[in-house]
Amino acid sequence: MGSKGRVPLREFEGRALMMEISLKMERPTIRNWEQYYQDNELEVMPWYFDGLDHDFDNKIKELGLSSGNVLDIGSGPGTQAMEISKYGFNVTGIDISPTAVKKAARLADQRHIPVKFIVHDILKGNFEDKFDYVFDRGCFHVQDVSLRADYVRNVSNIINKGGYLFLKCFSYKQEGTEGPHRIHPDEIREAFSKNFDIISIADTLFDGNHKPPPKGLFCTMKKR
Ligand SMILES: C[S@@+](CC[C@H](N)C(=O)[O-])C[C@H]1O[C@@H](n2cnc3c(N)ncnc32)[C@H](O)[C@@H]1O
Repeated sequence: MGSKGRVPLREFEGRALMMEISLKMERPTIRNWEQYYQDNELEVMPWYFDGLDHDFDNKIKELGLSSGNVLDIGSGPGTQAMEISKYGFNVTGIDISPTAVKKAARLADQRHIPVKFIVHDILKGNFEDKFDYVFDRGCFHVQDVSLRADYVRNVSNIINKGGYLFLKCFSYKQEGTEGPHRIHPDEIREAFSKNFDIISIADTLFDGNHKPPPKGLFCTMKKR
């Protein structure tokens, strides 16, 4: 350090950058998601689950769904989109990270599973296709609270009338503060009830590598 009590600009900027990065890493931003998928193997990611998350699986069976257009928002490793497609749906996965999309597409190719993966930010408009069912496992809960209205508007615009949104997020009952936002059922109602009938919001656990499994909410909503 130079004269007493003063931090040279370079060092200060370095520390400020470190601080910014470590704060951002707690709830990754666009740049961090891409970096994260570049730096890590899919199989070690906390959310990686090589089967269909039990809530989605049960819901598909309960409603007797077996065909239609499905969008998986924030598809990441792509395993959920691939498992959903095995039921007979026509599935598209979108993710903000080009590397996630590339890795998911490669995995789907190796497994001979016909899912389309596209780079797209759900907070931005202009997605032209429409869907009967939209799945979100872990994307809504990483969005900035101030941008929830953008998420709801865009998701609402791409679901056909009478279509379903199945959304799984961290619950306010999950301990700690790192990672995704903890969400209360009232926040779901507040964000979505203008465009959707809220059919159910159930306490649940996340399937994946994270132990113990994080506490979640599984929300079923129907587009008006
Ligand atoms: C917690 S991971 C869940 C991945 C996947 N749904 C699963 O369950 O395996 C959240 C995913 O959302 C993606 N994501 C974050 N913000 C996004 C946005 N605005 N639009 C699209 N994808 C986004 C991230 O890149 C990441 O792959």
